[in-house]
Amino acid sequence: MDREFTEKLTIFWESGAIMLVDQTKLPIAYKLIKITTINQLINAINRLKVRGAPALGAAGAYGIALAAHNSRARTVSKLKTHVHAAGRSILATRPTAANLFYGVDRVLKAIEPCITSDEVRETALDEAIRIAEEDVITNKALSVVGASLLKDGDVVMTYCNAGRLATVGWGTALGVIRSAIKEGKRIAVYACETRPLNQGSRITAFELLEDNIPTTLIADNMAAWIMRQGKIDHVIVGADRITRSEVYNKVGTYMLAICAKNHGIPFYVAAPLSTFDYESSVVKIEERDANELRFCGGQQIAPSAVQVENPAFDATPVEFITGIITEEGIMDPQHIFHRSDTQS
Ligand code: MRU
Repeated sequence: MDREFTEKLTIFWESGAIMLVDQTKLPIAYKLIKITTINQLINAINRLKVRGAPALGAAGAYGIALAAHNSRARTVSKLKTHVHAAGRSILATRPTAANLFYGVDRVLKAIEPCITSDEVRETALDEAIRIAEEDVITNKALSVVGASLLKDGDVVMTYCNAGRLATVGWGTALGVIRSAIKEGKRIAVYACETRPLNQGSRITAFELLEDNIPTTLIADNMAAWIMRQGKIDHVIVGADRITRSEVYNKVGTYMLAICAKNHGIPFYVAAPLSTFDYESSVVKIEERDANELRFCGGQQIAPSAVQVENPAFDATPVEFITGIITEEGIMDPQHIFHRSDTQS
């Protein structure tokens, strides 16, 4: 069975601008917006119009290309200074997703040897396009790896949105499901709604239904009960940053991992190697606006004066994770090595 899936890109470069799907409009409208300035990009990232670690990587990379494209700097050194400043302001938006840093840093590194302004602009855009193209290729590669874990009839629980809309295309956790279905397996999905911003109900449910993948939506507090009834064969989630000891992903992932372990359900993380961070011992977890919890769909649901904590991510210790699905195979989370670690 070779099944057709939606292969639209969620972010791309067109005529001197970044085009991206405005994810805040989902599931009501699938709308592309045009980003022509760095301020617009920063606003889009802060407001989660573009979100999901790999998509943020591409957004950051295209952001550097946009800064170079728009700059009227008279010398190459002034242009580079301007572009680096743009990079710093892009990186200040969301501190947790490793891919954002990967995208920005890779384009800044690529322009280092450039000696003319035209060369800087051309190289920045070429590198950003390469990062975006690699994202789709990598997601498809890791998805084939992950699909080998699933058998016909399996039911997968997932969290937040680690699908094509969180990447440039295909997706990571949802990519694994797509690849298994493409191989002819029947796979059904339980999607947790993912409060407070509902990436699960708004985005995951949208994109799975778009591809006719059988999907059941549950509230986050139902996950343990659904597992206890024996309805789940695997949990597969994405990641924002993977260190040697923890996986950072949407807050609530840790709770799911504990529940999965308690019920003997394999818990997999699907992520490209660009999500790995071999250096940091301290990772900043983004704290978001309190009103994301006090309001839902524009409706106030909590007293204005109530104190709120709203961390966007949590960290799951690697001992709760069965395996990390990457483009180079399934990694044992208790032994995360940088490629250079293995070189003698
Ligand atoms: O705050 P978000 O919506 O950007 O959080 C996204 C997630 O937590 C995803 O699970 C993660 O980025 C992996 S996406 C392939």
